[in-house]
Amino acid sequence: MEPDFWHDKWNKNEIGFHLSRAHPLLTCHWNRLGPASSGRVFVPLCGKTLDIHYLRDQGADVVGAELSEHAVLAFFEEAGLEPRVSDWHAGKRFCTEGITLFQGDIFALDRSTLGTIDAVYDRAAAIALPPALRQQYVRHVIELTGSSPQLLITLSYDQSLMPGPPFSVDAENVKELYSQHYRLNCLSSEEIIENEVRFRERGLTTLTERCWHLGPTLPAT
Ligand SMILES: C[S@@+](CC[C@H](N)C(=O)[O-])C[C@H]1O[C@@H](n2cnc3c(N)ncnc32)[C@H](O)[C@@H]1O
Repeated sequence: MEPDFWHDKWNKNEIGFHLSRAHPLLTCHWNRLGPASSGRVFVPLCGKTLDIHYLRDQGADVVGAELSEHAVLAFFEEAGLEPRVSDWHAGKRFCTEGITLFQGDIFALDRSTLGTIDAVYDRAAAIALPPALRQQYVRHVIELTGSSPQLLITLSYDQSLMPGPPFSVDAENVKELYSQHYRLNCLSSEEIIENEVRFRERGLTTLTERCWHLGPTLPAT
């Protein structure tokens, strides 16, 4: 997706992906990441998600990356927080106690700018990107975070019925994208079309939401 696609979505407030509470699969499964869950946690393509506050409440130092300045400003304003703002080489860095958001293109972020990461939370990030860009994104996040463990939430459906985003990422796609670097554990798989009017209106009749724990690969014996 071109940056203008997302800027346009934020400017028109067409943000059906934004939830008014922390994601239930995050609150249910976050502790599966063990001690890493309260370390330095990266939230790629974070939007203005309230999941950041949930992660912060679990003791994490949260670091997000988001293209839209509109989204980042809304995140802090809606939380009544006044961030310190500085520049990084591809945008602005917004910081408050325990929360840093890098506004700008995630592909411009490098390891030394981001700093050490203990865990990654990906909701509506990998599935926001079309296949070729998604592959680049997955490689980039793995490289940026040194293959830190991840909690990943995906959606899958018949891609011929609806253009993305969100794009369909099924179990086979998750294996192709991550299995070289991680041991994959599907924590939940649920049919959710009943609760998703916006996708029924776009022609879907089934929609599966999965939550994955991507953990360290077992050492070779
Ligand atoms: C579907 S939204 C998900 C937001 C958030 N994860 C959530 O759960 O509400 C995808 C977000 O990725 C951002 N985005 C898209 N491409 C990006 C890029 N190259 N770098 C940083 N952010 C990007 C968009 O602006 C948008 O806010």
